[in-house]
Amino acid sequence: MSDDIKKGLLGIVVDETTISQVMPEINSLTYRGYTVQELCDKCSFEEVAFLVLNGELPNEKQLKKFIKEERSNRKLSKQILKDIQKMPKKAHPMDVIRTSVSLMSLEDKETKDNSSKANMRKAMRIFAKTPTAIAAFFRVRKGKKIISPKKNLSFSENFFHMCFGKVPTKEIVKAFDVSLILYAEHSFNVSTFTARTITSSLSDIHGAITGAIASLKGPLHGGANEEVMHMMNKIKKPENALKWINNTLDKKDVVMGFGHRVYKKGDSRVPTMQKYFKKVAEIKGDKKFNKIYDIVERVMIDRKNIHPNVDYPTGPTYHLMGFDTDFFTPIFVISRITGWSAHIMEQHAANKLIRPLSKYKGQEHRKVMLLNYR
Ligand code: SDX
Repeated sequence: MSDDIKKGLLGIVVDETTISQVMPEINSLTYRGYTVQELCDKCSFEEVAFLVLNGELPNEKQLKKFIKEERSNRKLSKQILKDIQKMPKKAHPMDVIRTSVSLMSLEDKETKDNSSKANMRKAMRIFAKTPTAIAAFFRVRKGKKIISPKKNLSFSENFFHMCFGKVPTKEIVKAFDVSLILYAEHSFNVSTFTARTITSSLSDIHGAITGAIASLKGPLHGGANEEVMHMMNKIKKPENALKWINNTLDKKDVVMGFGHRVYKKGDSRVPTMQKYFKKVAEIKGDKKFNKIYDIVERVMIDRKNIHPNVDYPTGPTYHLMGFDTDFFTPIFVISRITGWSAHIMEQHAANKLIRPLSKYKGQEHRKVMLLNYR
């Protein structure tokens, strides 16, 4: 392949953004100038969602208004709830959530309005309703009654309540909140760039987020957190880990939860998520996955100098919280809707149709022979 082609847009800067900065050289990540580590320590997920969408951390009055708007939009229409109940139980939850966002667009009265105010209102409706759709399928698939959203619960508390019928301890809720803060935004990753590309033709936010969900499902991207759990379940016990990972590397297989296009010395989000993974394991009294985690990480670094990414600690944490493995990436979705929406609005604000070139290497120009001569 000739040098002027950058397959996968490797190392190519295609636009500017004010939303987040990924700094591999100092292993850091900031949302609107604040480091994610400080945001995890000092803020709720709702405060960070406001920050990503609006550019500033909210004051008390702004946060109260934001929470009121999010909570008053959580309900789904009877029609969409009926549609979810009719969806095949074997459907992948990422396909259910992608379809549910499309269904939301059919009902949204502002679909044709791409103004920044309308887009913010639509972003809030998608942000508020998507957890309800995911939780509804989580229950329906198990033959359980759907639990309606509750306005007196936080974003994370409400998600647990809609899935399990109860809210866990505040330590578990905090760990979940932290995972949502870490998942919220990450510059021009493939699902965000998908959303920006769809937006660049002036299509609507529901369509852009639908495309982004389809992209996030891939195991090279958000789907990796599910694959990490499948890997840990294959390893089963810590005493199997060393042999398993060495065999896997001998076969030159890709190890999910490791490596990153931008971070080459480790994902800045991992230390924070790993801390909460350990906390949840202690609370649940199950440290088996932590032991497997450490053995696999050690070998990956020693043999390949490849470090974990955010999906590596997050997968087993969600498992310990009681979520089905194929619901891990939908949890990534409910958080990343904030980042995707911010980028969609940023793209609208300074749009240029995204249309790269390709280098032709097919047949040279030739004449058509009529059918009876071919
Ligand atoms: C996310 O972009 C973002 O910001 C994404 C994200 C976000 O917040 O939006 O951070 C979230 O998607 C994290 C990544 C989750 N994906 C995985 O965990 C899947 C496993 N990872 C790999 O597929 C890979 O690391 C990628 C796809 C993530 C990045 O790969 P690149 O940059 O395209 O590099 P590459 O695949 O060309 O790998 C370079 C070398 C290769 O070896 P050689 O062929 O040169 O000998 O490193 C090897 C690869 O084989 N390698 C791995 C590996 N990752 C890279 N080998 C084994 N296991 C791995 N995980």
